[in-house]
Amino acid sequence: MNRVIIITGTRKGIGNYLAQCYLEEGDIVYGCSRRACDISHPNYHHTCLNVADEEAVIAWVRQIHNEQKRIDVLINNAGIASMNHVLLTPGSTAQKVMGTNFMGTFLMSREVAKYMMRRKEGRIVNYSTVAVPLNLQGELVYSSSKAAIEQLTRVLAGEIGQTGVTVNAVGPTPIDTDLIKNVPAEKIQALIDRQSIKRFGKYEDVKNVIDFYLRPESDFITGQIIYLGGIN
Ligand SMILES: NC(=O)c1ccc[n+]([C@@H]2O[C@H](COP(=O)([O-])OP(=O)(O)OC[C@H]3O[C@@H](n4cnc5c(N)ncnc54)[C@H](OP(=O)(O)O)[C@@H]3O)[C@@H](O)[C@H]2O)c1
Repeated sequence: MNRVIIITGTRKGIGNYLAQCYLEEGDIVYGCSRRACDISHPNYHHTCLNVADEEAVIAWVRQIHNEQKRIDVLINNAGIASMNHVLLTPGSTAQKVMGTNFMGTFLMSREVAKYMMRRKEGRIVNYSTVAVPLNLQGELVYSSSKAAIEQLTRVLAGEIGQTGVTVNAVGPTPIDTDLIKNVPAEKIQALIDRQSIKRFGKYEDVKNVIDFYLRPESDFITGQIIYLGGIN
């Protein structure tokens, strides 16, 4: 579709899947991750960076805009998790999770919004998790970082709502990626049992919600969080 789409965290998991899908659909994709990525496509551009690094984010977004003269979509997919009881969670872990999840989303959104607001159009999509509405025990730091992203989504949507830029979020259920590989199977099953629709999420489920937010007809939808699996 020839959109200029930025996706953070494209080396693996959901971000990697989304990048490949949008490339197949004819979009131009700029991706990042801390380590190298093996996507090979003429319309794919990869940069190794940490989304929590303010200077790197500012320079990267400026470079993309200089090259393409527009940014149509930002998908703030990069994320890390730490699943542990609060008493077993070091402060350094909390800082790292908040740094990647909240600061990364904040910095990327701020920089991209500047360009989108000038053009009076654009779509920003953030990631929460069902761990927020479920107040999931053992995920205090992770779910707190995602709760902060939900609040960012609502407030940013309000602050830039009059400029034609929408800001929304998707809240996945467990999806089989490296992010949850260390979570005991019984904990995952207990979570799935709390869903209205009791199955693992799929990459396609996430893309479906994102595609809904990206539709031209969705220009009246902003500040929303859609959870998968029937969690509310
Ligand atoms: N999988 C689930 O069950 C689930 C459920 C709810 C929400 N989510 C959310 O979905 C999103 C994608 O998760 P996933 O399951 O696909 O995880 P994943 O397989 O672990 O992939 C995470 C991606 O983010 C990149 N990344 C991590 N930290 C980064 C940083 N500081 N700067 C730049 N890139 C970074 C990683 O690459 P590098 O390691 O090379 O940096 C990787 O490409 C996350 O926001 C996650 O919170 C996932």
